[in-house]
Amino acid sequence: MSLPAQVKIVEVGPRDGLQNEKQVVPTETKIELIGRLAEAGLRVIEATSFVSPKWVPQMGDNAAVLAGIVRRPGVAYTALTPNLQGFDGAVAARADEVAIFGAASESFSRKNINCSIAESLKRFEPVVAAASALEIPVRGYVSCVAGCPYEGEVAPDKVADVTRILFAMGCYEVSLGDTIGTGNPASIARMIDACARHVPIERLAGHYHDTYGMAVANIHASLQLGMATFDASVAGLGGCPYAQGASGNVATEDVAWLLAALGIETGIDLARLAETGAWISAALARPNGSKAGRAIAAKGGA
Ligand code: HMG
Ligand code: MG
Repeated sequence: MSLPAQVKIVEVGPRDGLQNEKQVVPTETKIELIGRLAEAGLRVIEATSFVSPKWVPQMGDNAAVLAGIVRRPGVAYTALTPNLQGFDGAVAARADEVAIFGAASESFSRKNINCSIAESLKRFEPVVAAASALEIPVRGYVSCVAGCPYEGEVAPDKVADVTRILFAMGCYEVSLGDTIGTGNPASIARMIDACARHVPIERLAGHYHDTYGMAVANIHASLQLGMATFDASVAGLGGCPYAQGASGNVATEDVAWLLAALGIETGIDLARLAETGAWISAALARPNGSKAGRAIAAKGGA
């Protein structure tokens, strides 16, 4: 199969990236990060999550973040909403799109959202119904699509089951999360094949954490199967609070570099994106997790 001509990148740095920061990240810094990402050409930015602040204190300023951003036309500012309480908060804060998030592993589901997979799917139904009534698009996430920090390897059929149910429920897209980055091009391809038997590949997205440095290879394998939406986090920010040792998502700069090299359109201004990655890394006093970002900075521009 030929590679897609265009790819949608969903920037998850402000949410998946920052949710795991131990230090308090000032709301102003989050707002500036989101503004810079929009200026760099990102068209979908996961800005925050409406989860319990007892579980994830870093996202406690969700409403203030969405109130503070300057909204650029054509950019969707999205948020995670695990239940109706979160959904109501996201609507009040004018999120353009929401996401429900389940898992293919029972243990991870319990640790992450405090309920079984079946209970979580029941809990998501009223969220999707409420969103549909307001014409707010809903994205679905499945965590642990290649491996679980508690249960080890996860069978592709388990991933496909949850993916199929989320799609049938009304999610316009389902993002497949390799939460702990243990997938490789072969296991990711098997998992996508299983999901694509139930959901069109155009409705599937890859969300690959880069714990073992496999995420770019996994994206390349996914592109070859026709997948054309990928989640990424500027400067490779992040990790998961409920997956010890997991590192951040693949860096957006690295994905943009790969796609540019392959002649695939993303709408991203790589130089501005690399500047943003350098800026947020300095603001958080952490090393820049993007190899492409570091190389571009060392050369003084893209
Ligand atoms: P629970 O304790 O079972 O919820 O948590 P509950 O309904 O029993 O409520 C208990 C308390 O939480 C109550 O407050 C509620 O008001 C409050 P209290 O009366 O005790 O003061 N509460 C909320 N507060 C704010 N917003 C809400 C909300 N819901 C209840 N929406 C819950 C269940 C899902 C809320 C909890 O487990 C939670 O917040 N989990 C957060 C998990 C999370 O954010 N994880 C990280 C994101 S997922 C991820 O990173 C994976 C992904 O990137 C893909 C991948 O890489 O795999 C997407
Ligand atoms: Mg994630």
